Amino acid sequence: MNNPPLRLAAMASGTGTNLGAILDNIKKGLLNCEMRLVLSNNSNAGALHIARAYGIVAIHLSKEQFPGQNEFDDRLLQLLQEYQVEMIVLAGYLKKLSSKVVRAYKHKILNIHPALLPSFGGKGMYGHRVHQAVLDYGCKVSGVTVHLIDDEYDSGPPIMQRCVPVQFDDTADTLAARILQEEHKIYSDVIQLFAERRVEIHGRKVIIK
Ligand code: GRF
Repeated sequence: MNNPPLRLAAMASGTGTNLGAILDNIKKGLLNCEMRLVLSNNSNAGALHIARAYGIVAIHLSKEQFPGQNEFDDRLLQLLQEYQVEMIVLAGYLKKLSSKVVRAYKHKILNIHPALLPSFGGKGMYGHRVHQAVLDYGCKVSGVTVHLIDDEYDSGPPIMQRCVPVQFDDTADTLAARILQEEHKIYSDVIQLFAERRVEIHGRKVIIK
């Protein structure tokens, strides 16, 4: 029996190339998902523009509009409920979600990190800082981690990881670009596994059936 399309929301702060790759794969019929809603804390985020170009509801939601954590969470949860969202995909979302939201969507919030966690992750490790730290350490491989969200930065159980080689003449820019190409593939691969209801979570162990 075919599964009904998985109803997603995405949250992003920046350019939104990962979001664009997911939307492209949905459009091509490669992902059995519907993107119901895209949210950004940044009113001018590329991600909002990309979403609108695909005809998807794209909303600016930030702490400036809802300074209290409770008010912000209530509005976020209200929107997610209104659009009947089953899973949330963080795609370059730089804000931490509260425990209330994490609890409400337990095991249903994904994040992508451009390194092999638990190395080179945690608070403040985003963008080029990650890649520069990998180069400064002299690593021979880096990669991508897609993981579940918990209450800390980059600490939830990994769902899938892939290696990307570091080349001797890499800069943070060239390494970031090579890793981003892999990000655009792995995120859709993981989302499709959820759409096929093939992901089982046992504590920190995530099993693909
Ligand atoms: C990606 O590198 C992702 O791993 C990280 O934030 C970046 C977002 O890039 N969490 P983009 O906005 O999808 O291009």
